[in-house]
Amino acid sequence: MQNQIQDILKQAIEKINKCNTEAELLETEKSFLGKKGSLNEILKGVKDLPKEDRAEIGKLANQVKQDINTHIQNQKQNIQDKALDAILEQWHDVTLPGIKPQKGAVHPLSLIQEKVEEIFQKMGFMILDGPEVESDYFNFDALNFKKDHPARDMHDTYFVGEPQNKDGDKLLLRTHTSPVQVRGMLQHKVPIKAIIPGRCFRYEDQDATHEHTLFQIEGLYIDKNISIANLKGIFQEFLTKLFEKKIEIQMRPGYFPFTEPSVEFDFSCPFCKDGCRVCKYTKFIELAGAGMVHPNVLKSAKVDPNEYQGFAFGFGLDRLAMLYHNIQNIKHFRENDIRFLKQF
Ligand code: PHE
Repeated sequence: MQNQIQDILKQAIEKINKCNTEAELLETEKSFLGKKGSLNEILKGVKDLPKEDRAEIGKLANQVKQDINTHIQNQKQNIQDKALDAILEQWHDVTLPGIKPQKGAVHPLSLIQEKVEEIFQKMGFMILDGPEVESDYFNFDALNFKKDHPARDMHDTYFVGEPQNKDGDKLLLRTHTSPVQVRGMLQHKVPIKAIIPGRCFRYEDQDATHEHTLFQIEGLYIDKNISIANLKGIFQEFLTKLFEKKIEIQMRPGYFPFTEPSVEFDFSCPFCKDGCRVCKYTKFIELAGAGMVHPNVLKSAKVDPNEYQGFAFGFGLDRLAMLYHNIQNIKHFRENDIRFLKQF
């Protein structure tokens, strides 16, 4: 039995030295010293030995137990030291500068939209929103576009195939923000004083100033005695605040089915006195379409045109942003090139 016990010690030492992790070590400890471990298995036979031998075997067994334990503790220390060495090997120079994370930027269209919104809000306008996928009814019919009116062709429209809306009306990507004039009046009733910034879509040839996706800002002011003089005054005030410079407005006759009379708005060039490339040497820059809201549009919005009237205007935000920041090509707005976006 003494030999067996000595053998166990030998086997144990061999196994312990091969352990690479603390978990393996624990397993090995259990297999030799645990309740069902090999040492205990042998010691079960002690009771059959002569009395005088028992004490000696007991002593030996205790000694072996201690030896195994000592080896386990040593190996444990080895494993821990090795782990620490591995960590220390990946030495870091904490004085090296870090890697700067890429920072985004606010899009120039968002920046100018916020500016426009703030100016109009200070003049008492609320900000409204409407659907980008719109019904044929709100985009055209409600705005006094008769079914076969050629003005529909001026809005090169993306139609959405199926489904139609619940009234069986064709769906399309709105070509302007004007449908929200009617939606706004139906929802908020009159008097109303609102601007509607939003994305619109046109099936258009693309060039440096035209894109299939464009942003507009619509304005609507309906009350009991609003005239075109209010339109001129408010628009002039808005542009003066935006460009931080006294701006003059010029109106030319225009045509839109949903305004009567209709005008085209130009504003005095904020960049020159005597003509420059931006204003094409005319001293004025074209910006917006506008007019007094047509009685038929008021009727679509369940408003009595004999009691209420007012104006609406609409302009391209992309165009305004290009003028404001001197951007030459509308494509930059959608390219998401961080070098472009960071300039503003
Ligand atoms: N909706 C017109 C357009 O997209 C602009 C406009 C708005 C004209 C409001 C008059 C009044 O061209």
